[in-house]
Formats: sequence, C-alpha cells, structure tokens
Amino acid sequence: MTAKRISPDQLRSRRWLDGETMRAFSHRGRLRQLGFSPDDFDGKPVIGIVNTWSDLNTCHGHFPERAEQIKRGVLQAGGFPVEMPAITLGEILMKPTTMLYRNLLAMETEELIRSYPVDGVVLMGGCDKTTPALIMGAISAGVPLIYMPAGTMLRGFWNGETLGSGTDHWKYYAEYRAGNVDASVVDEVLAGASRSSGTCMTMGTAATMMSITEALGLTMPGASSIPAPDSNHGVMAAATGRRIVDMVWEDLKPEDILTAASFDNAITVDMAIGGSTNAIIHLVAMAGRAHIDIPLSRFDEISKRTPWLANIRPSGKFLMEDFYYAGGLRALMRELGDLLDGDAATVSGRPLGESYAEAPLHNDDVIRRRDNALSADGGTVVLSGSLAPDGAVIKQSAADPSLLKHTGPAVVFVDRADLDARIDDPDLVVTADSVLVLQNAGPVGAPGMPEWGQLPIPKKLLEAGVRDMVRISDARMSGTSYGTCVLHVAPEAHVGGPLALVRDGDMITLDVEGRRIDLDVSPEELAQRRADWTPRKKIPERGYVSMYAEHVTQANRGCDFDFLHAGAAIPEPEIF
Ligand code: FES
Repeated sequence: MTAKRISPDQLRSRRWLDGETMRAFSHRGRLRQLGFSPDDFDGKPVIGIVNTWSDLNTCHGHFPERAEQIKRGVLQAGGFPVEMPAITLGEILMKPTTMLYRNLLAMETEELIRSYPVDGVVLMGGCDKTTPALIMGAISAGVPLIYMPAGTMLRGFWNGETLGSGTDHWKYYAEYRAGNVDASVVDEVLAGASRSSGTCMTMGTAATMMSITEALGLTMPGASSIPAPDSNHGVMAAATGRRIVDMVWEDLKPEDILTAASFDNAITVDMAIGGSTNAIIHLVAMAGRAHIDIPLSRFDEISKRTPWLANIRPSGKFLMEDFYYAGGLRALMRELGDLLDGDAATVSGRPLGESYAEAPLHNDDVIRRRDNALSADGGTVVLSGSLAPDGAVIKQSAADPSLLKHTGPAVVFVDRADLDARIDDPDLVVTADSVLVLQNAGPVGAPGMPEWGQLPIPKKLLEAGVRDMVRISDARMSGTSYGTCVLHVAPEAHVGGPLALVRDGDMITLDVEGRRIDLDVSPEELAQRRADWTPRKKIPERGYVSMYAEHVTQANRGCDFDFLHAGAAIPEPEIF
C-alpha cells in the first residue's frame, strides 16, 4: 500500500529534540526529570498514547493496564511511548450529555498532538463519544494513528436471564413505572448488567462506533470485537503498540487511508450490524475532518442495498460477547463480501479485504448469512418531509413494525422539563395512536442534543399494556434504546425548524417505506405560527457552552464546529 520510508532525521519529534538551540537543550535535558535520557528517545518515533481513562468513566476501567501493554509493544518495536491523558467522556455520569463535549475532546486531541513532539498516536477510547472525538481530532492533526477500542463488557445476568446494558435497563424501568416490578428489581438488574470493564455490550453507540472504525481501516484487524476483559484484548493492545511504530516509519497517515470508499465501507457495516443512529452524526463529522462530504442520502442509498446481519440487541437477540465468539466483525465483513471495497487501505498496511478473507463464521444465528438476513435492508433509515426538511433518522430495526406507517395527532412537549412534568399526568390527552413530540432537545436548544429521543410511554398507557408509540424529536437516542423514535429532526426547534411549530392535535404522518415524515398543517397556518415564534431558551453568554452554541452545526452536518469541519491545514507550531 505504501512504499514510503522515512529516516530518523525526518521524524516530526526531532524538531523538538535535535539541534543546539537553547530550547533543544532544554527539551532533551528536561526529559531527564521523567527519568529519560537520550538513549530512550534518540532516533526513535515518539508515540503518544492518548488515554481517555478516568475514575468517572465507567467503561474505561481497564485502560491503565492496556496503556502499559501498548507501551510494551511500542518499546518492543523501537519506539518511545508517552501517555497523554485527555478529557474523558463517561456516558453515564457526565451531564448534561457527553455529546456537548465531543467536539471539546476532538479539539483537545488535535491540539495535544500538534503541540507536543509526537510522531504517531494510539487513541484509547470506546465509551460512545470518545471514539468519534479522538478520531476527528487525530485526523485533523494528520499524524499516523491507530485507534485501540476499549472492547465491550461481558454479558449481563440476573435471575437466570441474560441482560443487555441499557436495553434491559429501559425495559425494567418501564415495568417499574407500570407497577409490575419494584425498585429493588431495577437495582438488581443494573448490578447484573455491570459485570466488568468495557463498554455497553449491546449494539449501542460504543459497539457501533468501534465496529465502524475497524471498517474504516483505523484499528488493527479484529480489534473491535474483543471483549474488554478477554486476555486477547491485552494481546491486541501490545500489537497495536508495535504496529504504530512501523506506521510512523512508513509515514502512513489518515489521509492515506480514509477515502469515500472507506466511509462507504463504514456505512455498510453500520447498516449490517443494525448500528446506533448516533453513528450517522459521527460518521458525517469524521468524514468532514477528512474533507469528505457525506449527504444523509448516502446512508439511505447504502441502507437499501445492505442486509441486516448482526442479531444483536437492542434490535436482535444476542450480545457483543456472542458476536465475538461467532467470529466478530471480520466474519460479518466476509459475509458482506462484494458490498464492501476490500481494496480499501488500513492501518495494518494491508487492504481491508485481507483482514477478513479467511475469517471463520462460527454461529450463523448470531451473524446471519446474507441469504438468511434479519432484513433485506439496513437497520437505519433516513427520512425527510415537511416536518424535517433537512432530514431525520429512525432505527427501523428497533421499531414496532406496525408503527412504521402511521398517522396520529401530536402531543407536544416544549422541552425536557415539560415532558417530565406532564408525561405521567392522568389527565394528559393521549392514546396509543398519538404521536409524542419533544421540542428544543437539539444541538443548540438542549444544548448538546442529549439522548432524550426515546420519550417515555405515558404511565397510563404503560399500565394498559402499550409498549411502543411513534415519538419524534430533535434529540438523539441511546444506541441501546428501542422503539419507533424519529430522531435528529433538522433543522432543530431552537433555530426555528418546523418542529418548533407543531401544536397539540396536529396530524403527523410517518411513512418509513416512503422515507417521509410530514406535518399536516397548511402553509398559511404555519406562516402565522412562525410569525409568532421566538426561541424558547436563552443560551449562556460565557464559557464553553456559549462557543458551542454559536458554532455547532445541525445534525445533518454532523454537529461538528463550523470552524473545525475540514478547512485548510494548520501549520506546525514554531519552536523558539
Ligand atoms: Fe460507556 Fe455505554 S456507558 S459505552
């Protein structure tokens, strides 16, 4: 794939470490404070290990050990490893939402790499937003990179039942609200579903993004499917450390790997695994950093031709540990065959197709054959229409099939506080045919586009046995969630999209097969409502949130900052 080979004096880090300027003496000399002499780094690639560990990131508890294993690999290959902590985005404990900070981690990653003497990086992430953030930043920094996925945690168990993270929490919490189980059961389910380090083990955003990143060619072959506690995960960490050193010598950069074809491969894998709807936003943003434009229509084109093969919750039956035992992503990619571009480049230095050419498939119920697919088309569908002129998405594989074509009257909640205050009100005028609408939960309006899109079913309907309804918002939804939820409506309500103009009783039609989401209100009436409309929320005037709200793009553009999306290369720092 690449015939390039750089010499030691071409290493980027030598700008800091070579020469007889005052600064060069200082850079070399002060490394002694850390116990390093020139013998440690002279003529060696400096490998930054960007580590998103923290005691408050519940999914990255094994990262300290993995970082040591990566360092071992780097040393074995003749590199000089340095660990570089970056802001962690722990999905569970970080509020109001990690999505608010995805771009902050991306900025930090880019500037960490640019400002320090590193020649290549290993990116340690996994919990939802960490993956796209690290990759967005490192693509923009432009040095050789390998992404080391956290891996998923072990299957959950409780009372003889196999549990999936997130998915079974939602399920048992709904039963609790319906009065069918008590609080101790919910506590026990959560404890049973949290057995080890690693990310959520359903096909949530974390597992989706790790899989997609392997399909992009940015992980070692097979890395994305190994469960976090498996000893093979440590073996992979060391192999990643060895390989990044070679990548530096080969000068194999993201721009040599990422093409429109590699993003098509990633979208194809996303559809075949029934991936999280969040992947659409992240893929658009990641591609933007590589100067590749992906319109939402591309997702739908690929969805229509890609069978859904991974029988993993929340849409399917099994969990990510089963996926690994069944052959993992390589087996799935082999089954996809001609739907992928096997010639696409990867960090391994070999084409993607080589990584899965011989991959065995051990269980064809977990990973379906194409002639026995779970559905003929992909899990995620892109919609547009009068309610979402710039698009919306729905995970059809996680929806009640009977609701995929539905017309019903809107029940509108103007924001999350309104939703929480009224959803269980016995006097709420709502039936199973109603369409629940949440406004002002988008990128700017929330802010941060939280995962509020799986609006709760009103308690009185839960008690009557209703478990799914059509729900619409400008929010996102956890990849572990399920239900007939139309998400990412763009433009969002806060900036005056049609979603802001919906009122109780308006008729809304969802037609997934027709790829439509429409509001049945006359243009004259909408014009009148628009004349009366003002944004609901005041955005803070100082701090990160102020900058975020001013520069974040809408969901169909990936929610990157407008000043980070593509653009000209930034010069290397001057060293005086
Ligand atoms: Fe970290 Fe789900 S909470 S991946």
